[in-house]
Amino acid sequence: MKIKELEKEFVKLYGEGEVRKFHSPGRINLIGEHIDYNGGYVFPCALDFGTFGCVRQRKDNKINLATTDFELKVSADVNSIEFKEEDDWANYPKGVIKIIKDKGYNVGGMDILISGNIPNGAGLSSSASLELLTGVIVNELFNEGKIDRVELVKIGQQAENEFVGVNCGIMDQFAIGMGKEEKAILLNCGTLEYSYADVKLDDYCLVIMNTNKRRALNESKYNERRSECDEAIEKINSVRKIKELCELTPEEFDKVKGVLDKENVRKRVEHAVYENERVKQAYECLNKGQLEKFGQLLTGSHNSLRDLYEVTGKELDAIVAAALNAEGCIGARMTGAGFGGCAIALVKKASVETFEKQVAKEYTKVTGYEPSFYMSGIGEGTCEI
Ligand code: GLA
Repeated sequence: MKIKELEKEFVKLYGEGEVRKFHSPGRINLIGEHIDYNGGYVFPCALDFGTFGCVRQRKDNKINLATTDFELKVSADVNSIEFKEEDDWANYPKGVIKIIKDKGYNVGGMDILISGNIPNGAGLSSSASLELLTGVIVNELFNEGKIDRVELVKIGQQAENEFVGVNCGIMDQFAIGMGKEEKAILLNCGTLEYSYADVKLDDYCLVIMNTNKRRALNESKYNERRSECDEAIEKINSVRKIKELCELTPEEFDKVKGVLDKENVRKRVEHAVYENERVKQAYECLNKGQLEKFGQLLTGSHNSLRDLYEVTGKELDAIVAAALNAEGCIGARMTGAGFGGCAIALVKKASVETFEKQVAKEYTKVTGYEPSFYMSGIGEGTCEI
């Protein structure tokens, strides 16, 4: 839905008056998967589509949340916000509002209508998009924009960790809150130092491929992977003190890996250490315009997520394999948490049409699902329109 239509819907639902409008993007991660919570480097960017929100301040303390995407409408009092399973999608904005309030910032009543253009469960971060949308709304409506953007990013992550109960890292909220047009963000998740990089792909472009196999983050093995990493750190600490897995270089990993007696745990660490190296190399390659090599690193990342981190699954593996066999593709990988959702492919612009046809045919043959394809530019982070 476009913002103009959403504004009309807003007036139908809440009546005439001033309407403020906001947009928050989705994200893809170019490379650096499952290492944000291991203190590694990630390299994501914001998409040019995401979530729109229309909002109006109220005189009382009531918060009304509605969306054009689902029937469910939720109301809450600013002073007594609690997680409720049945509130479903509305728990994300509720969590953000509660945390902002608990931190001592101003929050008041408001009417909100939201419309998402990110396919749900596609791994393009519809939830982080909604979290940042809410954070920026509360900041602009009640705090004159005074809350620092990185703090809003952290609040989004906190809402997801503590209120919704998904133990995610900071990558998605950071990419969405801090995104810049045409730029990817190289983020050191250990220190939160970051820099922007131009994404110049010359004759190539990024194609987002949706497996249309829904990914359910809280039901998935995401939290299990996180505990495996904690287990690894504990073991490694008997021979070398580290706080996060990505502190280890490949050479240091070779020295300590003997203490990792469980095969699955050793594989998780190996992925984290080498994925971190791949991100740094990918950043260099993109800077130097070495696209073939950049593409190979993307594929290397997918293989590691498949064989070592074991978070891809049949559908993502099938779509990436189909992409690599199709015309014009020089690299492909899953993006986001995995277990379904989306993959990205680096494809020659002139071949995109043929590429999509070939991938669809092969992928459907193997899995029975029809894929969807999206072309997205790299967009701006969350903002008032
Ligand atoms: C999800 C999480 C992120 C990150 C990715 C995997 O998107 O929200 O924090 O861990 O998975 O890289």
